Amino acid sequence: MVERSEMRAADRSHLPYSAAFSLATATVMRRVVAALLILGLTHAVDRQKFKTCDQSGFCKRHRAVKEPTGYEVISDSIKVNETGLAAKIKNKDLTLKLSIVTLKDSTVRVLIEEDEKALRNRYQPLDALVKREPEQQKIKKTKEEASATKILTTDGNRVVLIHKPFRVDFYVKDKIVSSINSAGLLHFEAFKKKVLLSDREKGFWEETFKEIKDTKPHGSSSIGVDIAFVGAKYLFGIPEHAEGYSLRDTKSYEPYRLYNLDVFEYETNSPMALYGSIPYLVGQTTADKGKLSKEVLDADTKPRDVPQQNARFISEAGVIDIFIMLGPQPNDIFRQLSELTGNAPLPPEFALGYHQSRWNYKDQKDVKEVHEGFIKNEIPLDVIWLDIDHTDGKAYFTWDKAAFPNPSGMIEELAEKNRKLVTIVDPHIKKEAKYHIYKEAKAKKLLATRSTSTSLTPKLVNIGRSSLLFDKYTNTSKDVFIWNDMNEPSVFDGPEVTIHKDAKHVDGWEHREVHNVYGFHQHEATFAGLKKRSNDEVRPFVLSRSFFAGSQRTAAVWTGDNKADWGHLRHSIPMLLSLGTAGMPFVGADVGGFFGDPDEELLVRWYQAGAFQPFFRGHSHQDSKRREPWLFSQNTTDAIREAIKKRYAFLPYWYTLFYEHTKTGKPVMRPFWLEFIEDESSWDEDRQWMVGPALLVKPVQEPGATQISTYLPGKRQVWFEWDTHKARPSPGAVQNPAGLHSIGLYQRGGTMIPVFADVKMTTKENHEQPIILYIALNNKGDFANGTIYLDDGESYAYEKGDFAYWGITFKKEHDYLHTITNKNLDKRGTFDSDVYIEKIVIRGAKFYPRTAHIYLDDFTPDPLDFEYDRDNFLMEIEAPNGYITREFRIDLHS
Ligand code: NOJ
Repeated sequence: MVERSEMRAADRSHLPYSAAFSLATATVMRRVVAALLILGLTHAVDRQKFKTCDQSGFCKRHRAVKEPTGYEVISDSIKVNETGLAAKIKNKDLTLKLSIVTLKDSTVRVLIEEDEKALRNRYQPLDALVKREPEQQKIKKTKEEASATKILTTDGNRVVLIHKPFRVDFYVKDKIVSSINSAGLLHFEAFKKKVLLSDREKGFWEETFKEIKDTKPHGSSSIGVDIAFVGAKYLFGIPEHAEGYSLRDTKSYEPYRLYNLDVFEYETNSPMALYGSIPYLVGQTTADKGKLSKEVLDADTKPRDVPQQNARFISEAGVIDIFIMLGPQPNDIFRQLSELTGNAPLPPEFALGYHQSRWNYKDQKDVKEVHEGFIKNEIPLDVIWLDIDHTDGKAYFTWDKAAFPNPSGMIEELAEKNRKLVTIVDPHIKKEAKYHIYKEAKAKKLLATRSTSTSLTPKLVNIGRSSLLFDKYTNTSKDVFIWNDMNEPSVFDGPEVTIHKDAKHVDGWEHREVHNVYGFHQHEATFAGLKKRSNDEVRPFVLSRSFFAGSQRTAAVWTGDNKADWGHLRHSIPMLLSLGTAGMPFVGADVGGFFGDPDEELLVRWYQAGAFQPFFRGHSHQDSKRREPWLFSQNTTDAIREAIKKRYAFLPYWYTLFYEHTKTGKPVMRPFWLEFIEDESSWDEDRQWMVGPALLVKPVQEPGATQISTYLPGKRQVWFEWDTHKARPSPGAVQNPAGLHSIGLYQRGGTMIPVFADVKMTTKENHEQPIILYIALNNKGDFANGTIYLDDGESYAYEKGDFAYWGITFKKEHDYLHTITNKNLDKRGTFDSDVYIEKIVIRGAKFYPRTAHIYLDDFTPDPLDFEYDRDNFLMEIEAPNGYITREFRIDLHS
């Protein structure tokens, strides 16, 4: 069976990265999951404001290309070098330069660009990469044949350049997993000299949308190419869209658009562009590869009898610069992506706590009352946020002196209670002669200009340089962090609510060429400014609405202006999973929904979901009713408090996962396929997710639900209900009552999760609190392990060894002895802390313990008290005397 689906990503200002990824598993596919197209019921979005593919000249022209464009490799042009090859390809109209470079760690870069005769340079967003020149790897062997040039990489992969028609195939072992230009749709619009406009050429040289003319002074320079993911049943990635996790077939529909836009009241189940763009796709190879599994490297190889996903990238400008990451396992592709675009740095601990925001907390009194509300109602909180009106007439980095007469005092009051403030900084710069940022930007000629005039249009600017940030930001302190909003950039009266495509930026780049990295540069500069302000000592926190590949290195992001309805709550899950898949781990959605007023049930359910998503912030529109947690019925307030407290309880686990992300690139909020590759039926799951490897979350997402139905993935795994310790086998579905306080939470057998024994009101107060280790035994009852990471929670001292990364392992030694050991997993870490273990809970303990002893440094055993519940196979060891950062062994004799 060949399943085909075609998907396009169009209208991006550049096309840098795409990824093919293949997974080989030994399991045979059982169930076919078809992607369904369900149109959202809400249509509040004003679609008229945004271009469709048909209204975008380049997109329409590319989409009209349905037959192969006839590119072939010029045979005597191929020059094999140490790390790949260079060649020329041509069709009847154009000759292009091709280079194939093998990079370290099963990654291959394919670059297609104009040759030396090009009339103009093309923009490449190389800042997205950690290293502008990713590390190359020597190839092992090449074989040049008349019809194909074959490269065997050092990692054992094969890249086959087929000469006619031009195509590049990628093989992992003997299996073809991906192919560039397999449908032959490569289409390249070279810069050319302006000619008399025939009607046909008009869209090439100018275009009008809603009376706004795009003058295209250099003509069109669009590019497009197709990529096949052979053996893949699903494609994931290309955030940001309010879509299901598994991308759907867009053949007879609008393509997925990646053009950072401020879409008012965006609708769900839509391929429309949103605030950020990461042109990164993941396709997974099913085990069911039939005949192809032993396919020879043959130019005529056509994918047969296997599923296949076809994607086509179309971009308005730039070069074709594709990175193919060959996996083959899920862990591999996350590492491979992070080698290219980097990891999120370890966030300061407070940023993982709960954030309270609203547009607007209007004055100092308001802030004080909200702060006191949290204290009085005993609801944990780490940060209060200030939206645009705290400024002096929207001049950012300033204060409205009437509403905030004493910002320093306000910040100090928060700081005394271990809390932070986040203030908003939009990218547009108020055009006011006395405003110091405007003056400086103007003097430095950093303001963008319309092509048609030389006058300055301050809304069009990105001058977020670190020097502008903090020395001039008076009345703030180290406890103030920054929110970059509207940085697509949003321009209310501009075409498609953004800057004119023909506006000029520094070095003469047109806006169309740099559009999608605009926000990236703003939040990057903000991060640098915050870091600099503390002499590189304190970890910054920056939230950005707009993003691009690589944004994770300097920002957390949220999903913008969602709505207080159940559909948006549900969509927060696939949207966040998709961001994590594309390398952005620190992500969240406005809890409660930005627009509108959630009823109490929806609000509670949203808090329950948000408490288990990476970035956890309640935020709302200025026209919505106030919704601080205590403004509702007692039961609602209690349920919200409980959800937030759950978040704080699990903080040791969250923090450890964020640390591990810096090492592995793996997201903290995970799709099932990353953990359960053997369970193919769960790969496209997007109503549930994993927090790290050990915790499964299924929040209620329907009004009036009486049951929570949870699918437990994996093969022959055991799961434990978090609250009842009840064991459940997988794969399988479990039903549990959905009382207002309930959320589906399961611990995977074979894991350990550290949680705080007692929840305090801020992350800082919790920092040194004792820990409970929840150990859930595997199916055989003989093993479980997990990790815990500790440091000071705020500085960069961990980079110099001030951290502790320890591993707890439960093991069956023999029938009568089981042990729990604590070992330092990274000896470079020398952080010594007083954090001790208050209790160890062992779920699935079928070994009937009779005695328990702990061996500390001196290896003399101390007896331990414990309780054993035979009916539930639950063992609880009280006060085991162990410290997280000290070695110990506990012997459990049966
Ligand atoms: C748009 C943002 O998405 C929203 O979160 C914010 O409250 C408003 N701008 C006002 O700044």
